Amino acid sequence: MKAAPDRELAHAVVLLRAGELVAFPTETVYGLGADAANPAAVAKIFTAKGRPADHPLIVHLSSAAALDAWAREVPDSARKLAAAFWPGPLTMILKRQPQVLDAVTGGQDTVGLRVPDHPLALALLHAFDGGQYGGLAAPSANRYGRISPTSAAHVRAELGDAVPLVLDGGACEVGIESTIVDLSRGMPVVLRPGAVSAADIARVLGQPLHEHSDAAAPRVSGSLAAHYAPHTTLRLVPGDALANAVNTALAAGLRLAVLAHAAPPIAAPGLTWHAAAGDATRYAHDLYARLRALDAAPGELILIETPPATTEWLAITDRLQRAACGAGENDET
Ligand code: TXA
Ligand code: MG
Repeated sequence: MKAAPDRELAHAVVLLRAGELVAFPTETVYGLGADAANPAAVAKIFTAKGRPADHPLIVHLSSAAALDAWAREVPDSARKLAAAFWPGPLTMILKRQPQVLDAVTGGQDTVGLRVPDHPLALALLHAFDGGQYGGLAAPSANRYGRISPTSAAHVRAELGDAVPLVLDGGACEVGIESTIVDLSRGMPVVLRPGAVSAADIARVLGQPLHEHSDAAAPRVSGSLAAHYAPHTTLRLVPGDALANAVNTALAAGLRLAVLAHAAPPIAAPGLTWHAAAGDATRYAHDLYARLRALDAAPGELILIETPPATTEWLAITDRLQRAACGAGENDET
């Protein structure tokens, strides 16, 4: 039987203080949390995920009041963005305080910080923090390179017994990972697109924003080409090429699933058609659950209609391209 929420929360804090892992919901995706100040606890995250040790983790805080405990030389821009978007789906990369663990930062001089906007996450962070500005290091609670979890059931399917407690907060509202903006090197740069857009950030800062530049950026595992990937081969296909791609696949004897705005061109036994949400917010909310369902269905191929090339679809297109790139690989990417 499920424990009462407050007892479960207290249990979560006991586990975290003892250096154990606790998965928890956020508004973006579920996180795999550990005490960010405990090296042995942080090490467990990398083992559970199968993630390379040099990939940095985001530290989740209960409020912006903890900013200076984790970051130094915090620019005004960071305080403005925290005031505007925290709690919310924005991660800021800032120069770290010296005591922040190398295991958390991947040995870099910066740290990623965010205050998530989910009642259960905030309750957990407040209870854990205990007025000491403690933070939880938490990557998305999936196996490295695979699809991020947006429900407690996804977390259990991904990590099983590797995580002693999964707090269940229902389906994540946003559905894709936070926007990451690097404020550690002068001009702000968006490293990962998300629900908070570059235009939203530029509006608050009153200055234009540099778009993602791979060359100068620090390591971001979400910026690798292959990520968020199902096991089944996945291809992105423009709407006007979809009918052709479907017919070719069926002629080759493949069973396929399609996620598209367009209506199915034909009905065939090997073809399953899923109607995609028309607005980007809804599409993002459903995206990872959809990818999991498409992956689990019997079939050799997933075709997804390329989203519109407008800024509101940018973060979704980014995730789909990485999913297509890593799909079908048996090894963790
Ligand atoms: O929405 C989210 O951000 C979710 C929820 C759980 O908060 N977390 C998440 O964590 O997506 P993760 O580890 O899957 O992705 C965080 C990304 C990684 O790609 C990591 O490389 C990058 O943030 N990152 C963390 N610290 C960084 C730093 N100091 N410099 C550059 N990138 C950093
Ligand atoms: Mg991730």
